[in-house]
Amino acid sequence: MIKLAIFVSGTGTNAAKIIDYFSQHKLVLVDLIVVNKPNAGVLSVAKTHHIDTWLIERSAFYETDCYLNDLKTRGIDFLILAGFLWKVPEYLVSAFPNKIVNIHPALLPKFGGKGMYGMKVHEAVVDAGEKETGITIHYVNEQYDEGAIIFQSSCTVEPTDTPEIVAQKVHELEHRHFAEVLEGIVIGRQSFS
Ligand code: GRF
Repeated sequence: MIKLAIFVSGTGTNAAKIIDYFSQHKLVLVDLIVVNKPNAGVLSVAKTHHIDTWLIERSAFYETDCYLNDLKTRGIDFLILAGFLWKVPEYLVSAFPNKIVNIHPALLPKFGGKGMYGMKVHEAVVDAGEKETGITIHYVNEQYDEGAIIFQSSCTVEPTDTPEIVAQKVHELEHRHFAEVLEGIVIGRQSFS
């Protein structure tokens, strides 16, 4: 099996969709959920699906490679960032080249980089008077939101749209596409519908 570890900081609705999508899959297994907050909502979803969870600790993550050893020992093949807000340390990026995938709630390279996360992204999109926004699924390198783009999908932004409405549209796109695009990436299929 191709083993995925999903990293989550927030509510984890994308992680839940991915867990559901791969729950009966013949080739791909969500083997581990990694959170950096003890109350992450995704923990109960993981429990229902009998998926192991780790609560990681900041200094161990940045100052040691203990989690890398544990990920390798488990045989994890891909790290999936689904709303994970900590920067991925360099040792992990080099240990998993083109094997770390992030989803960003805008059309990169616009509205990316440090501090551009969650509602801040959608507020910036509305403030800039953008006519469209969307999602970007990309590989992770050492810079925030700068790795190679794998997939994008867009939606319109109407002049009357609030950041909350934009967030809802973008979340729908994420839920529609993320798991299927991941499937294509990890099993090596190149084109996505
Ligand atoms: C998503 O909008 C994702 O693009 C961003 O964080 C959000 C996570 O949402 N990186 P959820 O926790 O999966 O609902």
